Amino acid sequence: MKAGKTAAPPLAGLSDYARDARKLAMAPFSNFKVGAALLTTDGEIITGCNVESATYGLTMCAERIAVFKAVSEGFLKFTAIAVVADSRIVTPPCGSCRQVLWELCGNIWVHSENLKGRKMTMRLATLFPEPFDKRFL
Ligand code: THU
Repeated sequence: MKAGKTAAPPLAGLSDYARDARKLAMAPFSNFKVGAALLTTDGEIITGCNVESATYGLTMCAERIAVFKAVSEGFLKFTAIAVVADSRIVTPPCGSCRQVLWELCGNIWVHSENLKGRKMTMRLATLFPEPFDKRFL
């Protein structure tokens, strides 16, 4: 089967981890709490939440915390990430997270969900077409 055309794996369970991780978010400036859960090819789950800085610019998104945690613990192959936030419409990863996820995870499934259970699942390559990456270096 051609890569990118496969059906998304069941991601409801993964978003439950993201929902729990979101409860740990430290977002006193935006009050916008985000949780993420990254699934490895071996079925391990590594979570993250956003952590904000009073300088604003040093704030780190939930998705990047999850992937940096994972890589720093030796997890290198991933199939999906779930992201949960309390937005009316679902929250896809920001541009910086898309770049980092692309470089460290490849063309994973990205499952975004809000607290009311509204969902969207897409391949990262669809969210982030024509990336700059190591192929150009
Ligand atoms: N944020 C995330 O953690 N992930 C996203 O996908 C979008 C934005 C965080 C960063 C900041 O703490 C807050 O949400 C508002 O931008």
